[in-house]
Amino acid sequence: MSSIDYSEKIPNNVNLSEDRTLQRALEHWQPNYLSWWQDMGPDGSQNFDVYLRTAVSVDPQGWAQFGHVKMPDYRWGIFLNPGEADRKIHFGDHKGENAWQDVPGEYRANLRRIIVTQGDTEPASVEQQRHLGLTAPSQYDLRNLFQVNVEEGRHLWAMVYLLHKYFGRDGREEAEALLERRSGQEDNPRILQAFNEATPDWLSFFMFTYFTDRDGKFQLCALAESSFDPLARTTKFMLTEEAHHMFVGESGVGRVISRTAQGRVISRTAQMINELKTDDPAKLRAAGVIDLQTIQRYINFHFSVTIDLFGADESSNAATFYSTGLKGRYEEGKRTDDHVLKGQTYRVLEVRNGKLAEKEVPMLNALNEVLRDDYIKDSVAGVERWNKILDKAGISFRFKAPHKAFHRNIGPLAAVKVSPEGQVVSEAEWNANVDSWLPSGADRAYVASLMGRCVEPGKFANWIAPPVVGINRQPVDFEYVRFN
Ligand SMILES: [Fe+2]
Ligand SMILES: [Fe+2]
Repeated sequence: MSSIDYSEKIPNNVNLSEDRTLQRALEHWQPNYLSWWQDMGPDGSQNFDVYLRTAVSVDPQGWAQFGHVKMPDYRWGIFLNPGEADRKIHFGDHKGENAWQDVPGEYRANLRRIIVTQGDTEPASVEQQRHLGLTAPSQYDLRNLFQVNVEEGRHLWAMVYLLHKYFGRDGREEAEALLERRSGQEDNPRILQAFNEATPDWLSFFMFTYFTDRDGKFQLCALAESSFDPLARTTKFMLTEEAHHMFVGESGVGRVISRTAQGRVISRTAQMINELKTDDPAKLRAAGVIDLQTIQRYINFHFSVTIDLFGADESSNAATFYSTGLKGRYEEGKRTDDHVLKGQTYRVLEVRNGKLAEKEVPMLNALNEVLRDDYIKDSVAGVERWNKILDKAGISFRFKAPHKAFHRNIGPLAAVKVSPEGQVVSEAEWNANVDSWLPSGADRAYVASLMGRCVEPGKFANWIAPPVVGINRQPVDFEYVRFN
């Protein structure tokens, strides 16, 4: 179970060759996937040899192997964590029953919808990021971008396997449709709005991998609890890969504000501040670095767009998904309540007399909000780690995640304008302040002006510090990408 068969056309650890019909169906989908990769995968990169990790096992110790490969030759495949013998359903109305090895007829439509929605985000992010290779700040970063991209491609495979194996003809049609929708395309867009937004520059990319891939982590964690065992097992392995994506984001943003010098971490931007004896954004920009206020506005944007992904604060679908055992809570197994949640309540925000106020609602209906709050705790912790960089450099500026009601597009909070501090403001106040709360056209133009290709081994664009260590213990100036 833990080792992966690479002698087959589609590497897998699910004994694919024993199910000829499924194998044929997936081998038919494979060339369509590859032609999607040719069209929508990283721009102009088809001939590069990239130092990538490939899963060779699902054993947590030593699951990956590193080597230079051309991305279209990457071995995308189907890897599920080993099953737990006699696994029981541990939440919802079916608690205590055996986990399902097949899809119960009555939950088929909901499970398919969950799998398709998750699956759709994977190719979407590849599409959003496809042009970034042209402006990579270093070879190291270029390689990390490509690593994230091939693994998002593999995550698509993970969902397509479930669709093909368990959902018959509908599943096969959904698998085709996953290759047909396009991020940002008006007539056939990706399902979720955040996956139709452009990722215009590398600061956005780092913010996206920090904030939005972390949404992926929380969704996958909730699905890893599912009573539908194949979904639980495939999402568990996806989480192994996901950790690196969030690392790319956190360290990327960290490197924008820091550099290693004189044996201690000080901020590159902060160092500029010290040298210039000012934190005037204009002077910092003149020095070619990204001012802290602009970074803060990018945080505000990506944080708010991402927390919308958890859905409406109150949702009967969320209650159904939980009670029927399709989707659990984050770390369901570690919680000490009854795992059924009937009669329990949770606080959500509403607008009362022009102000934000809390109200108690049935917890089952508030499970989107529960997951959003767990996400917020986790993502705020990383913002504090960025603040440590400033602290060490003796800079008093602090980053702060905005209030969860700020800049929302889903749920009751979408009806009001709220400042990053959580004050309901008038339309006029919003308009007067929006350029200091969210990246303005000028901010984006400035960040875009810094983007240029810097790909000599060991060289880094001026606006970002080198990493402390390379990938897989390779030196920082290692040839991570051979351009041929
Ligand atoms: Fe993913
Ligand atoms: Fe990811």
